[in-house]
Amino acid sequence: MANDLHRRLEAWLRYGDELGLGPFYRDRARTTLHTVPADASSGTQPPEPGPLPVSVSGPLAAVPSLFDGVESVPNDSLERIRTDLGDCTRCRLHRSRTKIVFGTGNPRAELVFVGEGPGHDEDQQGEPFVGRAGQLLTQMIEAMGLSRSDVYICNVVKCRPPENRTPARDEIATCAPFLLRQLAVIRPRVIVCLGAVAAQTLLGFSASISRLRGQWYDYRGARLLATYHPAYLLRNPSAKVEVWSDLKQVMAALGLKPPPPRPRQRR
Ligand code: URA
Repeated sequence: MANDLHRRLEAWLRYGDELGLGPFYRDRARTTLHTVPADASSGTQPPEPGPLPVSVSGPLAAVPSLFDGVESVPNDSLERIRTDLGDCTRCRLHRSRTKIVFGTGNPRAELVFVGEGPGHDEDQQGEPFVGRAGQLLTQMIEAMGLSRSDVYICNVVKCRPPENRTPARDEIATCAPFLLRQLAVIRPRVIVCLGAVAAQTLLGFSASISRLRGQWYDYRGARLLATYHPAYLLRNPSAKVEVWSDLKQVMAALGLKPPPPRPRQRR
């Protein structure tokens, strides 16, 4: 058991090291870790997870998570986080950005959506998910019987990566602490990760989104579910079925009922 835990911890730390994170230290027992399966091999990436319980307790709960402690700012608030972010030049993404896209919505939201990073429209407007993928996200939120102002929407990185490329590991490592502070302040009941970057950042797994999606994880006391990114749905509309099944799980977790179907328009 001790060896097994040691091996998992080692894989976890190596993964954090690759992300450019660290040094690691033990934090208070509040720490939660998303499990690594029992047959973890000792490769350079943590192995892909199997189905997980919503909450992980026992010895694993004492293992530090990747960004442990970064969110524990006393008397923190979204305003303070925005002020700390400032006119950020911490990573190379600042060079090509127009506007920082901090996040928007209900600061007391029970449900938070986390995307990857701003695209062209978001970069211009300073608001997350306002382009084509954003319109689809808005439809998904409305299909759940909610509006954008009921939820909070933000991204892993706050500046647009050039040509909409995937943010690099060091860019994620630099920016993610602000996301973690946002989540710590909002304390949502449910977090929905849109796409692999958000899911991998918050869970610390390098597994594909098709592997991670559709099941519950524990993220520091919140329930976390990953699903496909709306931009992926624009390219692969058939995956909407899976996303809707994921969102129905979220609705059930939050006690939401789908709105009644809209009456058909008469011709
Ligand atoms: N894609 C994202 O991941 N975030 C946005 O804000 C817009 C598109």
